[in-house]
Parts: sequence; C-alpha cells; structure tokens
Amino acid sequence: MSRPVDLLLDFLHAEQARGVTHAHLDEGAREGLRELFLRARSGKKTAEPVLAEISAEPVAPDPVSEKPSVLVPLTTGSRTEQLDALRRQAEDWQPAKDLGTLRETMVFSTGNPEARVMLVGEAPGYQEEKEREPFVGPAGQKLNDILKAMGISRDEVYISNIVKFRPATPNQTTNNRKPTRGEMESCMPFVRAEIGIVQPECIIALGGTAAEGLLNLEGTVTGMRGKWHSFEGTPVRVTYHPSYLLQSGGNNAKRLLWEDMLSVMEKLALPISDRQRGFFLPK
Ligand code: URA
Repeated sequence: MSRPVDLLLDFLHAEQARGVTHAHLDEGAREGLRELFLRARSGKKTAEPVLAEISAEPVAPDPVSEKPSVLVPLTTGSRTEQLDALRRQAEDWQPAKDLGTLRETMVFSTGNPEARVMLVGEAPGYQEEKEREPFVGPAGQKLNDILKAMGISRDEVYISNIVKFRPATPNQTTNNRKPTRGEMESCMPFVRAEIGIVQPECIIALGGTAAEGLLNLEGTVTGMRGKWHSFEGTPVRVTYHPSYLLQSGGNNAKRLLWEDMLSVMEKLALPISDRQRGFFLPK
C-alpha cells in the first residue's frame, strides 16, 4: 500500500507537470508536515497516519484565519465553485501584499465561467476598485462597445486582469499606473488557474502590459498584434488596450484592433457580416 507521503509527492509532481507552481497548505496539512519533520529529525520511524489528514484534493483556505502564500486551485466542483475558491484565496494573497506596492482591495475577474473567449487586461483602476469589477470605467465602456460590434455580450465572455489589486501611487486619488513585472508575477498563479478552469478557446490580451505579463513579450503592441501567440496551448491575440483607442482616437488603431477582433471571430467561427468586415475601412 502506498504511504500517504508518497501519495502526496505523486500529487504534487502531477500538479507541477500540469504547470501549477504553488500549493495551498491548510493548517491541518501544515501540522502534519511539521510532525513529519520533527519525527524525521528525532530519528523516529514515521507513523503512517501523520499525513492522513492531508487530502489529495486541494483545500480552499479559510478566508479568515489563513494568509495564503501558496495556491492550489480546486480541481473538483463546478467551474463557478472553482473560481469562487480562487477568489477567496486572492482576497488575502500574501505574495501580492508582501510587495507593499499594491492597494488593499482585491478586484477579481468577472463573466461567464463557460466563456469561449477570455479577455485579459493589466490591473484594476480607480473605478474598478470602487465597484470591485474589472473594466467598468471608461476603458470598460469602450470594451463593451467592441464586444457589441462583434455581436457578443459582456455576459458571454470572461474578463480578467493580470494583477488583482490596483497599483498604488503616492497621494493617490483617481490616478492609475501600470503594474510592474513583479506585481504581475505575484498574481500570475491566479490567471493561470483561471485559464485552466474556464478553458477558453482563445484569449485576447488587451495592451502591451497584459501581453508582457501573460506571454513574456516585450516591445510595442504594433509588433505583437496581427498574429496568434500561445499561452500554454491556448491561442492568444494581442491587441491595443481600449484606453489607447480613447486616447489616440485615430481610425488606424481602431481598424487594427478591429482586424484582431475579426481574427478572433473567425477562430470562434462566429458569423461575420459584410458590414462588420468593412468597419473602419476608408470609404
Ligand atoms: N484597465 C485594465 O487593464 N483593467 C481594468 O480592469 C481597467 C482598466
């Protein structure tokens, strides 16, 4: 019969093989490991029941008593339940808190857990923090317009950000800043887990910062857009951030973004009318 410790190691190796980099340990699991360690140090033979309490199924943390710094997504339950478990862990996510550069309020993703397409932005801003929902400010309005033009409603897609907390600035009021590489790395385990749960057919990375966080790309959006990339096997289209359209207002960026959206519609085999094909083309 396999020892519990071997089962645990098998489980962790399997998780690692599928790209999981963090493991959540609840207090019972920590206690078991502590006891195992003390027994090993004292030279006593390991008692079998020591790790019996460590479930092969990942355990959602108790949001009150836990300060998680390791993450294991639930692998059972509905997608909604799995995303809820992630959300609870994100609330008090120690690697992000430890940076000391992000604000307190966690803004998790929103949308359809069964979505065929997932949109990924960089980080919440003032309005998103206030409403605790991604893309609800001016950039969000623009995003809704883009989705509408594609014939998709906001409820059909899954909307996420690489960073789950608003990046802080000195004397901050309504001003926002881009997240740093370290801030993005601290929250990437959540994005990876969300993609694993939702399993979208494709991802749209909104802006260069999201592309950097998700794909490790550097450079301009102009250089990254117009082709398919891959995040661990899921096709990713990089395009301009909706706020860039608000700033530039230029038809050229609008058309280029629209060409990326047409590619996404083709990938999803969505119907495309002649009118849609002609959006933003010079008359
Ligand atoms: N910009 C982003 O990248 N994400 C948001 O949620 C809002 C603005």
